[in-house]
Amino acid sequence: PSSFSTITTTNMPSKQVHILGPESAHYTTSNGAPVSEPYAAQRLGQLGPLLLQDFHHIDALSHFDRERIPERVVHAKGAGAHGYFQVTEDLSDLTDNPLLTNKGKKVKATVRFSTVGGESGSADTARDPRGFAIKLRTDEGNWDWVFNNTPVFFIRDPAKFPHFIHTQKRDPQTHLKDADMFWDYLSQNPESIHQIMILFSDRGTPDGYHRMHGYSGHTFKWFKKDGSFVYTQLHLRAEGGFRTLNNAEAGKLSGENPDYGIESLFEAIESGHPPSWNVFVQTMTPSQAEQFRYNVLDLTKVWPHGDFPLRPVGKLVLDENPQNYFAEIEQAAFSPSHLVPYIEPSADPVLQSRLFSYPDTHRHRLGANYQQLPVNAPIVPVANFQRDGPMTFVSQGARPNYQSTIVPLKYHGAPGTLEGGARDYAREAKHETFVGAAFRDLSEITELDFEQPRALWSKVWNDAQREAYVQNVAGHFKNVKNAEVKARQLSVWAAVDQSLSDRIAKAVGAPTVQPLKVKSAGEAIKFRANLGFKVAR
Ligand code: HEM
Repeated sequence: PSSFSTITTTNMPSKQVHILGPESAHYTTSNGAPVSEPYAAQRLGQLGPLLLQDFHHIDALSHFDRERIPERVVHAKGAGAHGYFQVTEDLSDLTDNPLLTNKGKKVKATVRFSTVGGESGSADTARDPRGFAIKLRTDEGNWDWVFNNTPVFFIRDPAKFPHFIHTQKRDPQTHLKDADMFWDYLSQNPESIHQIMILFSDRGTPDGYHRMHGYSGHTFKWFKKDGSFVYTQLHLRAEGGFRTLNNAEAGKLSGENPDYGIESLFEAIESGHPPSWNVFVQTMTPSQAEQFRYNVLDLTKVWPHGDFPLRPVGKLVLDENPQNYFAEIEQAAFSPSHLVPYIEPSADPVLQSRLFSYPDTHRHRLGANYQQLPVNAPIVPVANFQRDGPMTFVSQGARPNYQSTIVPLKYHGAPGTLEGGARDYAREAKHETFVGAAFRDLSEITELDFEQPRALWSKVWNDAQREAYVQNVAGHFKNVKNAEVKARQLSVWAAVDQSLSDRIAKAVGAPTVQPLKVKSAGEAIKFRANLGFKVAR
């Protein structure tokens, strides 16, 4: 090849990626040797067998044989883009995180949106939560926000996650999706009802990936140097609002344009209408958390905005489409454990499990050195004692591969001291109220689990929204064959509101049922208080 052009993908890490530009590309083998005829293969004579010496042909076939990497076990279908996040407020009263205390600071961001349950070829308008994963390239390392488009989640006991997900995958025998599996699980695990209220409203079918809000769902902790912290929940609100499709529109698009979400995001950016979100934080002090009616570590609950108002943080803008989807979006590896100084996870057990699960799946999906891939590599130098492994292309040069006194690494603060390192400050924080003896935990369903779903049904929604919910549920729930499963799930809806359950029963031609019997709110709160979790009432 006579001329190489170097393309710098501007939102990727500061490395330059050498790519042959379309105008100067000359066809070569993978070792760069020129080839004049891509279609030709070497044969013995005109009609003889192929020759093993034909590296060009073997090179092409063997690479093709290895083109696919495993799709994500959940969130397999997605779309993504690059852009920036800008801090617009002074947040120094909440945290000493260098980004959040630097009003006006802009960092590059990569975002991947997704549906959850379907395979990578499934329809973008399926009724499903949407993933909203964001990688912020800060000067203190990458900070990932691995969020969904709903403020709550189906579970609060992490061991349930594989079970719950399997009920939305294909039946082991029939290889079909199965409404009985789905509702069997949900009816046995009624803490899912809050998410089910949201999922079967029209919010369950957003109008494209970029016309929806995003939520951390989990509680995180933001620290200050003195060891004090606040609990936080992050919200991203789409400029232009949360736009939805109704069930009929979503169903039609699933058939006619299953890539509607990918396409509308790409087109919005390409036509110069970059999608943007205003970012807000809700905060709660540890003592407010102790008085809170719900457990702050339970992600099936929201924090009422009246009590915990949204405070502005910054703005996220997506203004650049990827040049290469696979390299820049498919290979992106987000994890809630990719955190930065003065930002900590809470003890929410689902979040704690996720801290492990994401890097674990990345090592399987992308390899041990997934953090070295251009889309994942931090913009700041990485210096540690990790070396080698498959596909290493940065093995940290000549620096010692052990803790050396001859060529020492510099540290932000010596372990255990209060100089510099955020982790050391965090160690000083006092939150032992939430810590007790080790035990095998499984949450219990109580009346507290139905209060917020009931508020949605009876206070937040209007008549049209209530009717849409009943119809959206009925469209799916009518496929359940097992009468016991049907009755059990109807008893969950009856615990939210008897009229809700009766309307769904009528819509699917099932008998009406009594509400599920659960522990009262008062008893539930007393039980928590006995565990050392102080709650006023
Ligand atoms: C993707 C596990 C709960 C948001 C994934 C992936 C796994 C996983 C294994 C695939 C990642 C990959 O291959 O790159 C879990 C487990 C959970 C859980 C074990 C609970 C115990 C949640 C919750 C949220 C969430 C509560 C949001 C609040 C996401 C998003 C993605 C994802 C946005 C897609 C990331 C991307 O676009 O690459 N999850 N998840 N997950 N999860 Fe979860």
